[in-house]
Amino acid sequence: MKKFMFLALLAGAILSCNSGNEEKTSTTVDEPSTSFLPPLMGWSSWNTYHVNINEELIKRQADAMVSQGLKDVGYLYINTDDGFFGWRDETGLMHTHPDRFPNGMKPVADHIHSLGLKAGIYSDAGTNTCGSMGDNDVRGIGSGLYGHEQQDMDLYLKEWGFDFIKIDYCGASELGLDEHQRYAEIVDAIHKTGRTDVSINICRWAYPGAWAAELARSWRMSGDIQDGWSYVKSIIGESLYLSSFAHDGHYNDMDMLEIGRSLTQSEEEVHFGIWCIMSSPLLIGCDMTTIRESSLNLLKNKELIAINQDKLGLQAYVAQRFGDCYAFVKDIEELHGNKRAMALYNPTEQPFEFTVDWKTMELGGDVKVRDLVHQKDLGTFNGSFTYTVEPHGVLVASIEGQRLETDVYEAEWAYLPFYNEIGTRRQMINFLPEETASGGMMVTNIGGQPGNDIVWKNVYSEQGGDYEMTVYCNSKFKRNEKTRDLHVLVNDVEQAVVNNLHSDEIEAIKVKVALQPGFNKVTMNNTIFWAPDIDRFTLKKL
Ligand code: GLA
Repeated sequence: MKKFMFLALLAGAILSCNSGNEEKTSTTVDEPSTSFLPPLMGWSSWNTYHVNINEELIKRQADAMVSQGLKDVGYLYINTDDGFFGWRDETGLMHTHPDRFPNGMKPVADHIHSLGLKAGIYSDAGTNTCGSMGDNDVRGIGSGLYGHEQQDMDLYLKEWGFDFIKIDYCGASELGLDEHQRYAEIVDAIHKTGRTDVSINICRWAYPGAWAAELARSWRMSGDIQDGWSYVKSIIGESLYLSSFAHDGHYNDMDMLEIGRSLTQSEEEVHFGIWCIMSSPLLIGCDMTTIRESSLNLLKNKELIAINQDKLGLQAYVAQRFGDCYAFVKDIEELHGNKRAMALYNPTEQPFEFTVDWKTMELGGDVKVRDLVHQKDLGTFNGSFTYTVEPHGVLVASIEGQRLETDVYEAEWAYLPFYNEIGTRRQMINFLPEETASGGMMVTNIGGQPGNDIVWKNVYSEQGGDYEMTVYCNSKFKRNEKTRDLHVLVNDVEQAVVNNLHSDEIEAIKVKVALQPGFNKVTMNNTIFWAPDIDRFTLKKL
């Protein structure tokens, strides 16, 4: 049963008697800054070589990055992953592997730098490395950073001169440490080296939480990729609702690329195209000296690279779900501009015909579509766009039309400051699959404490003014619950409180809110009890 309520609670009153809060009501949320680093591009030794690496091999790959024209299109980092460790001497000083790197790591970094490239290295937050466990590399035992933070960081970053470090977590898992605290200690040691330009990657194999963006340029959000379609598909599946956590030069890392190995052409297009639109770091994982032409051309596709390195630094979100197929979209070049990037992704075993209503993509009028994988214009389409995508296939396109002011904001697009996937919070705010919800997804366990909010950072209004907001939510009582209240804030100012919600099904709650012209931050929460589970909200200008 759907209950319809109209509650303009507080809205008018709060807005008109807010003189004590001038600052907050009179300013809109700033447009995100664009002066940050794009996702990192380069090569890493792990996917093809695991721990079987050596000085010559790394140098040859660096040379190939230049000679194959990859440096020219933006690939910059040559990362030595696990496998270089030798032993610690009596002072704790790390030595490199006697057979693989008999001259130490400095000549490796020097060679990379001599080519105008940057050099990356690897370690573990705990005592032992992952290679000592997964690859029986006994040299990795005792080679992690635990207890040697400053000594190792001084050696790797100051003395050897590496510019990037990936920090794994195998050894720290064994120690039962707190992830946030552990990575903060290591980042502190990195800062104490005096190097301020080191790029850091957190490798905890799941979205670690909002703190990761304060410490690192990127963080892994999945288990290890391997050379096979099922890995590409499953990592994309895990990335669907993480778009809001990538911001201001800090990115979800979907792991290193398996392009140039055993995937089919169309699977490689999915892999590269989706990694690009998701603004994942792009780390090539194959042997660049023998890479086949088609894979090399794909990796050098400038139009795809441009949407990855786009100055807004946004990750695409799911604009529409079609069963197992998805339409992703994100702004490029200008926030709320006329041009966007779109991906129609078919992971199934059958061809799938997408029909996308342009309104869902927030575009109107004649919409120009350009296929970025094949670098060809597909034409101009009005109203909607129908396109068949082959199995394990994708269309990645730029779409350009007249930008519309959207009236729908899904819960699964929102920023959840307390969300993480490493299980450190009980009854954590989470995504909840729900058939009757739009897009099949809701957000649950909102509230219960200060800060456990759901936040839409970029709610756009051309003119500003009063809107009727309809919140689609479900307020099924949890155990021992007495009440479910919903607080709605715009730009940190409370606009409405809806008390005593109780419905087992998704219901539509109406409140009145005032938006400023431009971008607004909309927050829903409850600082004491649970707020309802939220599906989406819609806006109607009053
Ligand atoms: C973990 C990481 C991989 C790789 C290996 C090295 O499994 O997730 O990316 O670095 O360790 O041992």
